[in-house]
Amino acid sequence: MNSLKLSFASLIFISVFYSCGTSSDSKERVLKEPSTIEQLGELLFHDSILSRGNQVACATCHKPDHAFADITPVSVGVDGLKGGRNTPSAMNQSGRVFQFWDGRMETLEEQAAGPIENPVEMDLPLSAAVDKLNKHEQYRKFFIKIFGHPADKKSITDAIAAFERTLETSNSAFDNYMSGKDTTQFTASAKRGREIFNVKGKCFDCHFGPDFTTDLFRNIGIFNGKDLNDSGRFVVTRDPKDIGRFKTPGLRNVAVTAPYMHNGMHKTLREVIDYYNEPDKFINNSVNRDTSLAKPLGLTEQDKKDLEAFLVSLTDARFLKK
Ligand code: HEC
Ligand code: HEC
Repeated sequence: MNSLKLSFASLIFISVFYSCGTSSDSKERVLKEPSTIEQLGELLFHDSILSRGNQVACATCHKPDHAFADITPVSVGVDGLKGGRNTPSAMNQSGRVFQFWDGRMETLEEQAAGPIENPVEMDLPLSAAVDKLNKHEQYRKFFIKIFGHPADKKSITDAIAAFERTLETSNSAFDNYMSGKDTTQFTASAKRGREIFNVKGKCFDCHFGPDFTTDLFRNIGIFNGKDLNDSGRFVVTRDPKDIGRFKTPGLRNVAVTAPYMHNGMHKTLREVIDYYNEPDKFINNSVNRDTSLAKPLGLTEQDKKDLEAFLVSLTDARFLKK
């Protein structure tokens, strides 16, 4: 309940923040003074001050209207530099035990330093970020108010992580059906889709739990060692079994986070469903693909529509109003 209230408060806060304009020169902007660590984190998340030359903010790639995911296949950072992977949603991460597609970081605090220093994302040493914030009149004041001291590396990443923990969603047609709060939004098609998700489609083998992920690394066949050569979890563990395995992503709000997969190869949910139905039609030389995906699923046209309706039913109401 607490996190729900916070998320709502932060939505109001975001709109106030945006109405101040998003000029790239943060010094000219009057920032709304935060009264909590989460609100300070929210300011930082939306501010390009954390990048070289004030070019990009976390929110440039993690777009609030798209459940804090991006709309491009791979990320685009400072100077238009392309990264190698798709930007996942930064929502519903508080229960996650691994961060990034390969799980190379475990906590949101650890994770937050990554993009700031990453040369193809924000490209700013964390020590330089600390300097910039402490030279910025308003941020200096805000950090002292919230932390009792000027910005340092830990307070920056603590504030951002605190904001990210407010980004939990639980007001979808599916949630309201499950809780009995409102059973009218969860359509007959979505109900059939849920059955397909759990049984015929085998989705539930990997995507289960409150956020539809086991937090495990699995290989759904998007590695062939040739044109598809991101080996995923293997980079972290060096265990050959992990070649081509990626973190099973949660599926909340997945209808607004296209394109999909670590490389952004699928443009629509329908394409994702067609892929799972018959992966060989898309990639026929994949290495170590999970045995649960060995045979075509044999989904009918109606099954596919229903499965898509179920995935759409996982969308929080705030994204449906747009
Ligand atoms: C240039 C685009 C870009 C910027 C800027 C950016 N990110 Fe990301 N973010 C990504 C990409 C791409 C990934 C996935 C990278 C990977 O898995 O190797 C990611 C992953 C994440 C994840 C992990 C989500 C998951 O499901 O594992 C979180 C959390 C996150 N970013 C938060 C942030 C924060 C906080 C900032 C600002 C300090 C930020 N990002 C800035 C592109 C960006
Ligand atoms: C063997 C485990 C496994 C099964 C079975 C499985 N998934 Fe996945 N799913 C994953 C993994 C792992 C990824 C990320 C793969 C990657 O990027 O290489 C993923 C990615 C996705 C994505 C993309 C999410 C995003 O944010 O990019 C969607 C949507 C999805 N799965 C839906 C489904 C549906 C629907 C089914 C059933 C038809 C299903 N999955 C079956 C493990 C699985």
